[in-house]
Order: sequence, then structure tokens, then C-alpha cells
Amino acid sequence: MAFYKYFFLIAYFRVLVSSHPVDSAAWGKKTSRVLKEVEKYQDVAQQIIDFTVNGKGKGQTYNRLATFTDKFGNRIAGSQNLENAIDYMLQQLKKDGLQNVHGEDVMVPHWVRGNESATMLLPRVHKMAMLGLGSSVGTPSGGIQAEVLVVKSFDELKKRADEAKGKIIVYNQQWVDYGTSVAYRDFGADNAAKVGGIAALIRSVAPFSINSPHTGWQDYSNTTKRIPTACITIEDAEMMNRMADRGTKIVVHLQMDAKNLTPVKSRNTVAEIVGSKYPEQVVLVSGHLDSWDVGQGAMDDGGGAFISWQALSTIRQMGLEPKRTMRAVMWTAEEEGVIGGQAYYNTHKVNASKYDIVMESDLGTFTPTGIQFHGSDSAAVIMEKVASLLKPINASKVNRLKDRVDGEDISQWQTQSNVPGASIDTQNDKYFFFHHSNGDTMTVLNSHSLDLCSAVWAVMAYVTADLEDMLPR
Ligand SMILES: *[C@@H]1O[C@H](CO)[C@@H](O)[C@H](O)[C@H]1NC(C)=O
Ligand SMILES: *[C@@H]1O[C@H](CO)[C@@H](O)[C@H](O)[C@H]1NC(C)=O
Ligand SMILES: *[C@@H]1O[C@H](CO)[C@@H](O)[C@H](O)[C@H]1NC(C)=O
Ligand SMILES: *[C@@H]1O[C@H](CO)[C@@H](O)[C@H](O)[C@H]1NC(C)=O
Ligand SMILES: [Zn+2]
Repeated sequence: MAFYKYFFLIAYFRVLVSSHPVDSAAWGKKTSRVLKEVEKYQDVAQQIIDFTVNGKGKGQTYNRLATFTDKFGNRIAGSQNLENAIDYMLQQLKKDGLQNVHGEDVMVPHWVRGNESATMLLPRVHKMAMLGLGSSVGTPSGGIQAEVLVVKSFDELKKRADEAKGKIIVYNQQWVDYGTSVAYRDFGADNAAKVGGIAALIRSVAPFSINSPHTGWQDYSNTTKRIPTACITIEDAEMMNRMADRGTKIVVHLQMDAKNLTPVKSRNTVAEIVGSKYPEQVVLVSGHLDSWDVGQGAMDDGGGAFISWQALSTIRQMGLEPKRTMRAVMWTAEEEGVIGGQAYYNTHKVNASKYDIVMESDLGTFTPTGIQFHGSDSAAVIMEKVASLLKPINASKVNRLKDRVDGEDISQWQTQSNVPGASIDTQNDKYFFFHHSNGDTMTVLNSHSLDLCSAVWAVMAYVTADLEDMLPR
């Protein structure tokens, strides 16, 4: 998950709304019929859960994802490795018996990190753990050597603007929450350049650290000089802040070979179970296949992509035939600004009225507690009933969001086309410990939790796809 732009809004609008009584009498009648219809899925939901958690599907999600991430490692947009990983996925999805397996072309940014280092020279020599930020320019060869100005906030930088010229700006902002603190990663370089800074080092946007740098995309404005920027660890940001508070002069040497190359062609990866009665109507489940160029991209977002495959795989293996089409999409280039999700929306929005619900998992696949849902009151009542089928695995909570659910790739369907949206809620309080770092590996994930997430995804998607009516808008 990159979610750098819109997250503020969601965090702000995030509200828990209890189910409202349905207002119109006609809808009331229809809704109560649909609720009765949902009750009939109790047995099949239990069968899906049993298959996934204790039966033939047990461990499949973990094994498939581990095989994939161990084989390819991380998969940054623009890399040949991501394209090889997509080829592999297309093969696996076909081999699994899914239908209409294909890639949809998207042009994506191609940023490469190259060699990089940040070394403190004064008051003592100390090699810092660091990671350049996506889209950053490199330094001149030989690097940049300069005195450091440490600030805790953009406000402090503004106040001390006359001290900034020719310096490397170090941000030691406190962790508030991701949506708030990510502004420093996004706009740190741009704000530093505005006051004459020559590079920006950003305290990693994370609540916890074992000297781990956490990378991510950053944005230059068009009007300011593009200066090199990287994240450093919480430990080093705090240390430099302490040194500066004591009046100690700090000098850092920063060297980065980062380059923005010509965009290249990538693909969104698509697979289906074609609906038996309403094949043109779609229930979409998704996660993004690309990752940062560190760790294994297992948590962000291998888990989300693979529970989406598994949801279809389970339904296919069980021989169930949903009335409408279940479509899994594994997005490309989410991390560079939702490039795959945006391209898919642009191409397919003409059919928005045929999209029953769009779902994405991109905030971790830990032990699930339920779903987030965005949609009309009547649709929410129905989804609460569908989610109640997940009581046997304690994953039946519905967290209604006013604006849209988490998951950048499915955002516009909800905000522009009024399509209902859902994502999965899990016990993800450690998500940002690992996010965009070398710590994002299979070791963070757990086979049983992945099975539970796959069961949630399969039950929600299948039942919604098999109801006689689409969800009311
Ligand atoms: C990084 O530096 C090493 C040695 O300094 C060199 O062999 C290697 O080619 C460089 N890698 C890149 C991607 O520039
Ligand atoms: C920057 O330039 C790009 C390309 O010319 C344009 O699409 C974008 O809207 C501009 N951004 C701002 C903040 O002006
Ligand atoms: C829209 O839906 C129709 C009917 O199912 C289909 O033939 C067409 O390919 C779809 N168009 C897009 C862009 O998905
Ligand atoms: C669900 O929660 C209850 C109460 O906390 C617990 O006893 C039960 O073992 C849980 N079931 C599962 C499948 O986790
Ligand atoms: Zn992600």
C-alpha cells in the first residue's frame, strides 16, 4: 500500500455507522427478501470455511505465496523481475483452471535506486542505514557533502528558513499515524528545496524500528528544484536531533545513483470465473502484485493479491458456479501512484453499472476481524448479513466507511462511479513495523491467518456474486 494522497481524507471521514433502518418501504420489502436469500448460504459458507481452513485448501494461500515470493523476491514497477513474476502468475492462474486469464497493458514509471549511501562525517564517522525514496533524483557523482539542519516539522523548517540554504535537511517528525506522517516522505524534499536545502533525509514513516529504513514514493512539485531524498532510521534521526540540540555541528555525505528511466509496459493480471447467469456482471477482488524493491513484498501486497487468487481458486476447486462473474485483478504499479488501478478504471468505467462490488486487500492479511464496507444503507444491511456467515471464524464485523474503503486501486469506482466497495479488516497493528522495508518477508505472515483471510474473501465474494440481485446503489 502506498496510500499517500487520499489517506488523510479517509482517516478523517472514518466513522463507524450502525445499520440504519431502511427508509423506503419498497426497499424494505426487497431487502428483507434478500436477507432471507442470504440465510440460505449458511451451509455453503461453512463448506467454504471448512475447505479453506481445515480441508484441501488448508495452507494453499501460504504455500503459493511463499513459492512466489521466494522465487521472485521483490517486484518494483519497471523491472524485468516484475514482468517475469506477472508471466508466472498468468501461467499459474491458467493451470489452476481459471477462465479468461490475461494481462492488460499499462505504462508504468521506471525508477531505479542504484548504489547509495549516507555517512555521517562529523561529529564522528557513522554509516547510516538508508533507502532512497521512489522518484528521487540521484546526487552528482561523488555525492553531496554538507552540514545538516535538523527540524521536527514543516513549521519549524519555515521558521528556520534562513538557516537552511546549502544544507542537508533532516526531518525528525514524530510518528502520529501513517496518513499524517507520510506527508514528510511525500513533500519533505520539495519543502526543503523551497528554502534552499540541497538534499532531504526523512525519518522513516513507521511507529517502530530496529534500525530499519522504510522507503516509499515521494512527489516533487513542478516549480521547485528536484533535490535527492532518502529515508533514514528513527534511531539516526533522533540521534542527529539530540546532537543538534546540544549545538553539535553535523556533516553528512550523501551519495545516490537513483535514476528515473523511460516508462515501460507492464500489465494488470486478470482471471475469472465466468458467471453462469449474469456473466456481464462483476464482483471484483484484488490486491497489487508490484512491491517496493526491498524485502519480498510478501505483506505489501503479496497477501492481498494471493487471497484474491485463492478466493476464485477455492470456488473453482469446490465446483461452485456463481451467477455473476468473479474477477480477480492483481494490480501493477500501485506503489508509484496507483498506476495500474487508475488505468483499469479508465478502461472499464464504461461498465461501472455492471460492477456489483469492488474489493481490495492492501493493509495486511493478518487474523481477520471482518470487512470495511462503503455503499448505500440497504447494501450495508445486506453485507452485514453476508458477513454474519463468517461468525464461525469470528470475522463478521462490518466497519462502514462514509467516503470509501481502504485500498487505493478500487478508490475511484466508489468515489466517481458509486460502486459499493469492501476491504478486509485484520489485526494489523504491526503492519507499519514492516511496511516498505527489508522486513516485509514471508516471516511476517502466517499460514492460518492467510487461510482465514482467504475464507473471508471467498465467502464475501461468492455469496455476493451468487445473489439473485446486485447490491442496491
Ligand atoms: C555499485 O557499486 C559497485 C562497486 O562500487 C559496482 O560494482 C556496481 O556495479 C554498482 N552497482 C550499480 C547498480 O551501479
Ligand atoms: C506537474 O506537471 C505535470 C506534467 O506536466 C502535470 O500533469 C501536473 O499536473 C503538474 N503538477 C502540479 C502540482 O502542477
Ligand atoms: C463492457 O461490457 C461488455 C458486456 O459485458 C463487454 O463486451 C465489454 O468488453 C466491456 N467493456 C470493457 C471496456 O470492459
Ligand atoms: C471466536 O471467538 C471466541 C470468543 O472469543 C473463541 O472462543 C473462539 O475460539 C473463536 N473462534 C475462532 C475460530 O477463532
Ligand atoms: Zn500496498
